[in-house]
Amino acid sequence: MRYDDDMDMTRPIPIPAGVGAPHGQGHRAPEVGQQRGAAPGTNQPHSMQVRGVYKSFGSSHILQGMNLDFADNAITTILGPSGTGKSVLIKHLVGLLAPDAGDVLIFGQDIWKISEAERYELRKRFGVLFQDGALFGSMNIFDNTAFPLRKHSNLSEKEVKEIVMERLKEVGLERAVKKRPNEVSGGMRKRAGFARALVLNPDIVMFDEPDSGLDPVRTSLLNDLILQMHAEHKGTYMLVTHDIRTARKVSDYVGLIWKGKVVHYGEADAAFASQDPFVRQFLSGESAGPLGMD
Ligand SMILES: Nc1ncnc2c1ncn2[C@@H]1O[C@H](COP(=O)(O)OP(=O)(O)O)[C@@H](O)[C@H]1O
Ligand SMILES: [Mg+2]
Repeated sequence: MRYDDDMDMTRPIPIPAGVGAPHGQGHRAPEVGQQRGAAPGTNQPHSMQVRGVYKSFGSSHILQGMNLDFADNAITTILGPSGTGKSVLIKHLVGLLAPDAGDVLIFGQDIWKISEAERYELRKRFGVLFQDGALFGSMNIFDNTAFPLRKHSNLSEKEVKEIVMERLKEVGLERAVKKRPNEVSGGMRKRAGFARALVLNPDIVMFDEPDSGLDPVRTSLLNDLILQMHAEHKGTYMLVTHDIRTARKVSDYVGLIWKGKVVHYGEADAAFASQDPFVRQFLSGESAGPLGMD
């Protein structure tokens, strides 16, 4: 079966030389309260840690003592009902929102205890795919993808073009470079957003509901692409979704958010096989169980 916007998805993807930074092995995140910073067996600090983070908007207490050490060089999926603060969590991790209390550590650095200039530097190590792709409507796919490179690097236009075309080829969009976002499908916009998120060769890539607004076939193709790109580029991936199928397909680790806290974090296989009624209800999407609506 072929889809107009997915026609190049089946061909083999070339692996560019020299991409991807070295990372520690993926591993189970230590329990809260264990030694801070260092990943076991390495001198590298964890790429992302959230420690006792609280955030309220007026009287809405969204993050209520959230703790999470993300497994390095692995894909972590964060699941939780809508409105639980998943996007708010992402904004804390990229330094767009400051916690009321608690720490957000990126590569061991508390992002709110460093200077604005240092935070700016740190952001270059992130690639973020926001929910709607967040492309600039006035720019074509090429310029959208080139944007982070033009903004954050001193590369020549020739070098920019090489990298951009490589990433756009990887996501099967090399023939759509001249198109504007509103001239392509939702699936293509997501893939363009993904290509853009990867141009700076980030150590951390975050996806906010990459599957929202996509039909099951395109969701499945995008999930394949996420797995493929992670295998090739490495890095710590965090993916927010409420689609259990997406979580099953892509996750190395699963984090469950409930009432402002991480109530479970662990290896995906174990989570999906868990007999814990709470975890089971969460991951099966059943209405009967210990989780209530309130
Ligand atoms: N900047 C903000 N100001 C006020 N309320 C906000 C802000 N950002 C998010 N919220 C509220 O926080 C809650 C969690 O939002 P969000 O993180 O977007 O949920 P989700 O888990 O669906 O991604 C929602 O009730 C939302 O209205
Ligand atoms: Mg959200």
